[in-house]
Amino acid sequence: MASIKIQKLVKTFGTVQAVAGIDLDMPDGEFVALLGPSGCGKTTTLRMIAGLEVPDSGVISIGDQDITMSQPRDRDVAMVFQDYALYPHMTIGENIGYPLKVRGVNKAEIIRRVTDVANQLQIGHLLERRPAQLSGGQQQRTALARAVVHRARVFLFDEPLSNLDAKLRLEARAFLKYLQREVGVTGVYVTHDQSEAMALADRIVVMSAGKIMQVGTPLEIYRQPANQFVAAFIGSPPMNLLAAVSDEAARTLSIAGHTFPMRENFAQASKASVIGVRPEHLTIHTQPVENGLVGKVYVTQPLGGETLILVHVGENLISVRVFGDDPPELPEQVWLVPELSRMHYFGEDGERIS
Ligand SMILES: Nc1ncnc2c1ncn2[C@@H]1O[C@H](COP(=O)(O)OP(=O)(O)O)[C@@H](O)[C@H]1O
Ligand SMILES: [Mg+2]
Repeated sequence: MASIKIQKLVKTFGTVQAVAGIDLDMPDGEFVALLGPSGCGKTTTLRMIAGLEVPDSGVISIGDQDITMSQPRDRDVAMVFQDYALYPHMTIGENIGYPLKVRGVNKAEIIRRVTDVANQLQIGHLLERRPAQLSGGQQQRTALARAVVHRARVFLFDEPLSNLDAKLRLEARAFLKYLQREVGVTGVYVTHDQSEAMALADRIVVMSAGKIMQVGTPLEIYRQPANQFVAAFIGSPPMNLLAAVSDEAARTLSIAGHTFPMRENFAQASKASVIGVRPEHLTIHTQPVENGLVGKVYVTQPLGGETLILVHVGENLISVRVFGDDPPELPEQVWLVPELSRMHYFGEDGERIS
């Protein structure tokens, strides 16, 4: 295992700055998710760590070794990509065992480790087959097994679960989490799926347009998003963002025509132009209440253990999450009350101001 350090990393393709100067310090054994929308530079960053792409500038170190210009094979990294490539002429067992075979591990040990990891990924019964005889999901799990069978210094994953159906994706996610806990792997995991990043990572690096927006633990990012971009990207459904007008003298904030008291001990609220509140931090009422935003119910979506309710409040469509398997009976007109201590304040530049 090893630490990873990235300094001022830049990569440009023609006129596109795919990675625009990023810094990241990962201690040994940390599992980090690079999270962001398509095209934000996640894969390019990962490929530079793997040695498949040469940076324009910047330094990448593994352990205390500068590997910026090393050959991929000299880095001792294991990778799983979205487009996995299995050897078609080998059996599944041979595919998984290949990284061990080239490292001269003895046959009995190869069989033991291949069987173990294949069973964990529920492909243990397929070891004699060839890739063409497997479903896409089974092939993807074979690629995952092949990557993790050899305990590399660093694991790199590029959306490895995105081709699996929902159920298999959750199982494979649990396996990765288990692997990370048991083996303490140092890993970089690329995904555009915020729930996957939250579930797996020790820390999440949120990226946008080649830059890092925020680095933090899943809960830090959920509780204290650094800016509107992160606020809107984390959470499903995402945080409600509403235009606000503040009155410093009166210490009030107007949102969708309703005036709220400013949060206590909060000197900066007067600069807020947008407030954020998560769907789980609003309560819904059928009668007028203090600090209630009046609105009209648009749709109600019962999801089993929770219900999502969308409400038109002025120009805004606000989502509200109600926990429990008993969806509320709602009239057309309702009042939404945000938890004042859970409101997020953003300035005109989109940055968090408290
Ligand atoms: N080989 C390449 N040639 C030209 N442009 C590229 C290449 N690879 C990536 N890009 C561009 O760089 C940007 C970042 O891409 P990528 O790292 O693949 O993003 P992500 O993995 O976050 O979706 C995108 O605008 C993409 O089109
Ligand atoms: Mg990508």
